[in-house]
Amino acid sequence: MGRGTQAVIDLAALRHNMELVRRQAPHSKVLGVVKADAYGHGLLPVATALADSSDALGVATFEEGLALKKTGVQRPILLMEGVFSLEQLKEASAQGLNLVVHQPWQLAMLLEADLPRPVGVWLKVDTGMHRLGIADNGCALFWQQLNNSPNVADLVLMSHLACADEPDHTLNQRQGELFRQLKSSVGAQQASLANSAATLDRVDFHHEWVRPGLMLYGASPFADRSAESLGLKPAMHLQSRIISRSTVLPGESVGYGATWTAAARTEVAVVAIGYGDGYPRHIGKSTQILIKGQRCPVVGRVSMDMITVDVSAMPEVGPNTPVTLWGPGLPVEEVAQWANTINYELLCQVTGRVQRVYQGSGAD
Ligand SMILES: Cc1ncc(COP(=O)(O)O)c(C=O)c1O
Repeated sequence: MGRGTQAVIDLAALRHNMELVRRQAPHSKVLGVVKADAYGHGLLPVATALADSSDALGVATFEEGLALKKTGVQRPILLMEGVFSLEQLKEASAQGLNLVVHQPWQLAMLLEADLPRPVGVWLKVDTGMHRLGIADNGCALFWQQLNNSPNVADLVLMSHLACADEPDHTLNQRQGELFRQLKSSVGAQQASLANSAATLDRVDFHHEWVRPGLMLYGASPFADRSAESLGLKPAMHLQSRIISRSTVLPGESVGYGATWTAAARTEVAVVAIGYGDGYPRHIGKSTQILIKGQRCPVVGRVSMDMITVDVSAMPEVGPNTPVTLWGPGLPVEEVAQWANTINYELLCQVTGRVQRVYQGSGAD
């Protein structure tokens, strides 16, 4: 028997969440965002599961794009940060990868290159986030040059929202309005602004393409709304096992730094997961895990390979009892709050030594 530390990925949940995207944005095409190893869920199995139900897939790196091509994914693939060299540009063109253009040097390189075939381009304009994107006053010129270039097959205007997870933030309205003006002034037939939060909350931001990531994985982009209340199903169930159980006497401490001391006789179980697996080290005192449907407090520090848990209320559990770190019954959003971070980070940081096990392919 192995260590039992695994992330069970429910492909049927992914498909359910994609159907929810379709219902939310029935008039838009869907670019499923599968960057960062599909938010930790595994790029190739996720892309394969979503290939039929998405209109395109988005990745961050050239290597991720090539990996999808090599697997034979037929859907258009967008490199969301574009290419970083002429060599990559030529290879992207040869492989049929689509690119974001967000910098003047990327535009110049594209216009001047001798390419095997034209590429699909998403021109990214900065509407107020001030991260990636060309300045709004350069948009018309960029658009015109791309539109006239024999190297460009298909052109989409895009921008990214800084505060979509805070629906009342004034920047949303400003960005949405500027984007609408730019779209109309360049005469773009295809445009894209919405991430998960805007797909769920802002029909007026849907345009021709929505770009959901997080919601596909069944997690909520909003701090004050649970995934369940949005109709989403968690795609990742992070599991492990108890590997030992012992009694700690009053006054004795547990773990590195002796940060937790038993006030009374306490039954402590050791669970085979730690920060070496991506379980967050910086968790608050009220952090819990789930054993047989019951919540148990984590006590003491998170180690590299283990955590320690108070199981005094559960006399029947011991070595080999399965444990849920997050997933059904314990939303990743709650763990993120205890760890003072966001669900995105927890999902992405599950490390390579945690085995991904796929369920719900339709074949099983
Ligand atoms: C440009 C762009 N579009 C869409 C997304 C998907 O965002 P979310 O996961 O919030 O849906 C991301 C994610 O960071 C992004 O960078």
